[in-house]
Amino acid sequence: MKEHTIKTNFLSCDWKELPEKEQMLVQLAKQMTQHSYSPYSKFSVGAALLLKDGTIVKGSNQENAAYPSGLCAERTALFSANSNYPEQPVVALAIACYTEGHFLATPGSPCGACRQVMIETEHRYGEPMKIILYGEDRTLVFHSAADLMPLGFFAEDLLG
Ligand code: THU
Repeated sequence: MKEHTIKTNFLSCDWKELPEKEQMLVQLAKQMTQHSYSPYSKFSVGAALLLKDGTIVKGSNQENAAYPSGLCAERTALFSANSNYPEQPVVALAIACYTEGHFLATPGSPCGACRQVMIETEHRYGEPMKIILYGEDRTLVFHSAADLMPLGFFAEDLLG
């Protein structure tokens, strides 16, 4: 039996230290929390992503009385991008979480299902997707979705 360690890389910073384009994505993700439909959790999540050609696609979490029918902000934005711009790689995705009257001080972390969709999108286009997790006090930047999802499941795994 052998023990293994997986390391991952990310940056932490104040969001004002981000390049201008990424600050704009963060601003849009923050704005999108206001479009969240989250009467059940009262936890509003906004997402804004940048496509390679400069197009921006936005999303927010959408809940439902039949709870599992709802969808996270990240997947709402990613599926919209992949549906409307199937030829365009997603190069960056910013996420912001708002609850109880304020944005989270330390960022909310994307759920496993969203990470799975992120790595499939990244893999599909063969380009790294930067993930920016906004927090009022501290923002985290992952250079690639794969850094958030080690040992992910890919199409090749279906081949056995
Ligand atoms: N949520 C997201 O939109 N993104 C995440 O990464 C985590 C959770 C949403 C789902 C649900 O509407 C609410 O936040 C509470 O879990």
